[in-house]
Parts: sequence; structure tokens; C-alpha cells
Amino acid sequence: MLLDTYGRVATDLRVSLTDRCNLRCTYCMPEEGLQWLAKPELLTDDEIVRLVDIAVAELGVKDVRFTGGEPLLRPGLVSIIERCAGLSPRPKLSLTTNGIGLERTAIALAAAGLDRVNVSLDTLDPEVFRRMTRRKRHADVLRGLAAAKEAGLTPVKVNAVLMPDLNDAEAPDLLAWAIEHEYELRFIEQMPLDAQHGWQREGMITAEDILASLRTRFTLDNEGSRQRGSAPAERWTVDGGPHTVGVIASVTRPFCRACDRTRLTADGQVRTCLFATEESDLRGALRGGATDAEVAALWRTAMWGKKAGAGIDDPSFVQPDRPMSAIGG
Ligand code: GTP
Ligand code: 5AD
Ligand code: SF4
Repeated sequence: MLLDTYGRVATDLRVSLTDRCNLRCTYCMPEEGLQWLAKPELLTDDEIVRLVDIAVAELGVKDVRFTGGEPLLRPGLVSIIERCAGLSPRPKLSLTTNGIGLERTAIALAAAGLDRVNVSLDTLDPEVFRRMTRRKRHADVLRGLAAAKEAGLTPVKVNAVLMPDLNDAEAPDLLAWAIEHEYELRFIEQMPLDAQHGWQREGMITAEDILASLRTRFTLDNEGSRQRGSAPAERWTVDGGPHTVGVIASVTRPFCRACDRTRLTADGQVRTCLFATEESDLRGALRGGATDAEVAALWRTAMWGKKAGAGIDDPSFVQPDRPMSAIGG
């Protein structure tokens, strides 16, 4: 079991498969990209599967989500998923992706055992997409989403980050579109995890702003949010149901007290939180010949040191050194 001193138990593992990405979302990384990890620094496919095996067999992890960077850029993705689906007990497997290339891989991913996907899409306007991601790939994402639904990777969730003066007026349109296409939409408050350290609390679109904007067109009912549990999204029923919309308010309504997560970076470091200031080196242990029991013990010790919360809205908050794409979203 991965227990911390606040009594939380981590059963949800997020594994970053690469720090690279084919988009350049302004809230994430600069135009020129970042200093990417070198191949020998990345965990190999075998190392990833071994760590997931230890997590499910020895540490009680039940849900495994692959992230990045952009996880579809990882050449071995389908085989990693297939091998993880063969573990005992079998974890639930999901993927968070920008959707580019999903059109080609959705069927193979589903056949390999992937259960569902979350796809990032911030706008319905190709020109706004180009300004937000610095790439002309809007149509690829839409095709990727459709392919995921078709392949049964459902519920397909769509993540949208709202940015002032870019897409903040689009919230109701995005929701109408998501309902029409049967995607489960969640709006995300922008977090201070950009490589450029340009995040500003004052400019951020808050959960309150998002809900007010949605209420200009829809009736929202928050009955469901009482059963939120450890999910980051608070869910609202739209116009009496059955459709819902989620808001992930990491800054203004943090869910740290119920957090059930542990994370592995693409270079094999355990992070107890997106906003942790420390990492524990599992890759070094694996490559040094540690046994499964020794690796599990290191992981347990790391989680025992998990802090109470991220405290983004506290005056003393300090942004982590590594950006989101390196930590794993
Ligand atoms: P579901 O199981 O589908 O609800 O997944 P999820 O919402 O946890 O995962 P996803 O990868 O789609 O992440 C959605 C947003 O939640 C992203 O902006 C993540 O960065 C953010 N998020 C994920 N994990 C954490 C976390 O531990 N803390 C905080 N503050 N945000 C997180
Ligand atoms: N704040 C909030 N969400 C972010 N994402 C990327 N960077 C940030 C940030 N700074 C989102 C992506 C994706 C998910 C993994 O996290 O859009 O949907
Ligand atoms: Fe790529 Fe995701 Fe960062 Fe956008 S937010 S640049 S899709 S890693």
C-alpha cells in the first residue's frame, strides 16, 4: 500500500512516457520546445512494465494513466499497454493525449487493452487553436476524438484550459459541442506549471468565472459533485441531465485532501504530487539491480513523505522547477 502521513492511500498511478510533444501550448512550453531528456535517461519499455507490475502487484495501484508530454509519440505505446493489460491484478488503463495521431492508433490501443482516453482540446476555432498551440493541427485532434469514440475508448473526456482573451468566451460553445458529440467536457484552471514561469494568478480564469459563463446558456446542478471522491473534476449536471460538465479547480478549490495519486516521470523518478519539490530515483534502483521488494520499499518511503497539498493559492507557493511536460500531466 502507498500510504502517506495524512492517511491518504495512492491507488492511481500516472506514468509519463515522454517529455516531448508535437504541440507548443503557450501555457505549457515555449515555441522552441525544451531541453528534451536523452534516450538513455528515459525508462525503457521493460522498465516501465516492471514498475507498473510492482505498483499493481505489491503496492495496491488499481488505475494506471499514461501521460507525457505527448504519450502517442512513444514508439512502444501499444506494446506497453498490452503488457500492462496482462498484469495481475489487471489495472484499469487510460491515456491523456492531445489527440494527434489517435485517428491512426485508436483501434490498436483499444485492442491492446486501453480502457479510455482523455483528449485536450481548448477551442473549436482552428485559428485560435493555432494561436494557443502554435501548430495547425486542429482537424487532426477532431479526427482523433472521433476515432477514439468509434474504437470504444469511452467515456471520451475532453480537457479544456481557458486562457484570457484567447478562448475564454468559448465555454458555452465548447459545452454545446461536447454534448452533441457525447464527449465528457472538463474545464481546467490553468496551473503554474509552464516552463516559462509566466503563470499569473491575476489573469487566471477561475472555476467561478467558468461556471458564470456556462450559466449564461445552461442550467447547472451540482448534486453530483458531492460524490466527487478523489476525482479532480467537480461535476455538474447540465439542463437536468443526463449530460455533465466538469471543472478541475486545482487553484481555487484544490482536491489535495482526497488525492490518491502517485506519479512516475519519464526518467523514472517518483513524484508524490505535481507540485512536489522532491523526487525519488527508481530508475537508479532498477539499473543498480534492486529487487522488486526493494523498489517497492523505496516507492513506499517516497509516498510517506507526501506533503499535505500544493497550496497554489498560498502566498508562499513556489512553482516546481520541472514543467508539466517533464513531470507528466
Ligand atoms: P479522470 O480519471 O479521467 O478524471 O482523469 P484526470 O482528470 O485525473 O486526468 P487528466 O490527465 O485528464 O487530467 C486533467 C487535469 O487534471 C490536468 O490539467 C491535470 O494536470 C490535472 N491533474 C491531474 N492530476 C492532478 C493532480 O494530482 N493534482 C492537480 N492539481 N491536478 C492534477
Ligand atoms: N495548467 C492546467 N492544465 C494544463 N495542462 C497542461 N498544462 C497545464 C497547466 N499549466 C493540461 C493539458 C491536458 C492535461 C494533461 O493538462 O491541456 O489536458
Ligand atoms: Fe503538448 Fe500537452 Fe504541453 Fe500542449 S499541454 S504542449 S499538448 S504536453
